[in-house]
Amino acid sequence: MLNIALPKGRLGENVYSIFNALGYGCSEIDEDNRKLIFTNNENGVRYFWAKPADVPIYVERGAADIGVSGKDLLLECNPDVYEIFDLSIGKCRLCVAGVKGARPDGDTTLRVATKYPNIARRYFRKKNRDIEIIKLNGSIEIAPLLGLSDVIVDIVETGATLRENNLEPYEDIVDISARLIANKSSSKFKHDEVGQLLSRMRDHFCGKGC
Ligand code: PRP
Repeated sequence: MLNIALPKGRLGENVYSIFNALGYGCSEIDEDNRKLIFTNNENGVRYFWAKPADVPIYVERGAADIGVSGKDLLLECNPDVYEIFDLSIGKCRLCVAGVKGARPDGDTTLRVATKYPNIARRYFRKKNRDIEIIKLNGSIEIAPLLGLSDVIVDIVETGATLRENNLEPYEDIVDISARLIANKSSSKFKHDEVGQLLSRMRDHFCGKGC
């Protein structure tokens, strides 16, 4: 039995439909009920939905053998898991952004609002830039508009949120996409099951021999 942690939301639903197409379907998931864990003994899978930021924790600790996580969370939390496949979906980028035409100069300590304090610290340390982190949990774009921060470090997907709030990207930090991650012991002790899943994923995304 493979235990699979899926991130709640559109990305997780897209990923589940891929698992389903690859022979890992679980009809309980489609039923309208309040269940949290869904099992299909025939296909040898058990799914559960988790908060996206919690998926790496379940996988690291072995409560899930496999999970799907954005590369942003992996870079931020650096969980002790194997990153086994780039699903090439959920693509976006992490940027430094701020008010349009108001890029701060390099002299003062930069106030950075973000959900990603570790990534932001690493990025600005490399640039030898003094910063103060203001850790927020969402709607980060509001911070520079209200003068809470000078810039933000946040996800940009279509760019619409920035555009519609008179903000602009200043610098790109890194490209992001969804990754398949695996628990380290499961990769050993459930080697065949994890290997078969990975090989079906590879065939699905890049054809035989990828
Ligand atoms: C994310 C991100 C941006 C937005 C970017 O927020 O933090 O706010 O999406 O998308 P766009 O470039 O297509 O406009 P999310 O919807 O996850 O909510 P949050 O503000 O609670 O983080």
